[in-house]
Amino acid sequence: MSSPSPALAYRLEAARAVVHDASRLAMSMRPPPGGPMATQKSAQDWLTETDGAVEAFIASRMKTLFPEDGFQGEEGGIARSGRLRWVVDPIDGTSNYARGRSRWCVSLGLLDGDEPVAGVIEAPALNEVYTALRGAGAFLNGKPIHASPVKDPASAMIEMGWSNRVPKPVFMEKIDAIMELGAMPRSGGSGALALADVACGRLDGYIEIVINLWDVAAALPLLAEAGARVSPFLRDGGLTGPATILAANPHIAETLSQAVNIPLA
Ligand code: IPD
Ligand code: CA
Repeated sequence: MSSPSPALAYRLEAARAVVHDASRLAMSMRPPPGGPMATQKSAQDWLTETDGAVEAFIASRMKTLFPEDGFQGEEGGIARSGRLRWVVDPIDGTSNYARGRSRWCVSLGLLDGDEPVAGVIEAPALNEVYTALRGAGAFLNGKPIHASPVKDPASAMIEMGWSNRVPKPVFMEKIDAIMELGAMPRSGGSGALALADVACGRLDGYIEIVINLWDVAAALPLLAEAGARVSPFLRDGGLTGPATILAANPHIAETLSQAVNIPLA
């Protein structure tokens, strides 16, 4: 990949500032610890007032800054089309956010056609900001990050995302395969942060059977720049609808792929 264009580098800086302001807004509206302060879109699929407020804030700022770029949000769908397409998940990990937990983030990715080129993920309750620009590296709070060196699945930690979109037997079969490898299972409630964890080496792999573009758009360039391997999510339908994703450190990616039957190519 050639070095990034100034136009894309400028967009990443702008996105970082907008996501930071959006994160402050989310923090100001954050519920205290307790039962969920949210409604259910469907069973265990939560929506808070903050999801809408943060998406509206980011949509408005991006429209002013880059009116020619496409824009797509989890809540509002595709607002504008363009070769460059911003994709926002206003709060990823809403189920955590709604209970006053800390594991949630604001996620904003940029695609150039079908190529993920830049991403910002800010987790304000964790004081963490991930940024990536294709050809220019992936960073956590400004420091370069890399996928983990773990080779032995028996020393690995693998997360699997859960939602009611996946039939229980399928979820159980994949978790079983992960545990058969000897890996330690996790499920933390934010697909974007789990993928960021693969990019920075805190996890060795992440799988989710049905996940959407807004959950992964900002993480895809992070994973690519951090040297992780990722299944062809966009090619497999992720550009236009839900699809399956596997992301892993390069040493165990093939083993994990075979065990859970999610092809890497
Ligand atoms: C959800 C989270 C969760 C994942 C689900 C997503 P939301 O997003 O990322 O970890 O397993 O598939 O829908 O609802 O918190 O924005
Ligand atoms: Ca999400």
